[in-house]
Amino acid sequence: MSNVQLIDFHAHVLPGMDHGCKNITECKKQLSLAMSAGVSTVVATPHFYPHQHNVASFISRRTEALDQISRLSQRPNIIPAAEVLYCKGLSDMPMLDSLTIGNTDCILLEMPFSRWKGEYFEEIDRLINLRGYKVILAHVDRYSSPDIETALNMGCLGQLNASAVKPIFNKIAYLHWIDRGKIVGLGSDIHGTYYGYKEYSRAVKALKSRTHGIMLNSRNVLL
Ligand SMILES: [Fe+2]
Repeated sequence: MSNVQLIDFHAHVLPGMDHGCKNITECKKQLSLAMSAGVSTVVATPHFYPHQHNVASFISRRTEALDQISRLSQRPNIIPAAEVLYCKGLSDMPMLDSLTIGNTDCILLEMPFSRWKGEYFEEIDRLINLRGYKVILAHVDRYSSPDIETALNMGCLGQLNASAVKPIFNKIAYLHWIDRGKIVGLGSDIHGTYYGYKEYSRAVKALKSRTHGIMLNSRNVLL
């Protein structure tokens, strides 16, 4: 495990972008906790709420936040992204390309927490098959397993939150998704500094050799 490059695939660390990080001081602390946990790359995923945000101003705020981070002397590699909340018509939203993860065609999609309706799956289908995105479902552990199973079979990939991985890790559905190569990211989903990277480090240990596979999948997605 020691030579595995750890990637945090879901983190709210961009100063002033959302409730995850108030300012550059908090950001600095979050990034220092990440580095202490051995994380070399953080995918920065501020919330994007289509009913509240405008893509152009979101991107300009994100550029400012990244600019502040770039002045820190010690920091992990940061990949700009967004955690895009599902909405009806998302696949038609202008400038959606600006919200992908780094330079990839992947979108980190947050879904409603209730059981998913047929129209949700139709929207996902349009994102994948009409728009050509790779849809990565944020924190797959938070939804109903049958809904995730359907989405994975449609071509979605998944990101697992570290908080869902307990020391004796035997949640069959998650293991099954990991072993099928569907989980492409382990995320701290860090907000503030209270939990820091404790859960992330615990998950890395509990997943044992599976951590390596997930990190390789992350790298393949991010390259
Ligand atoms: Fe999040």
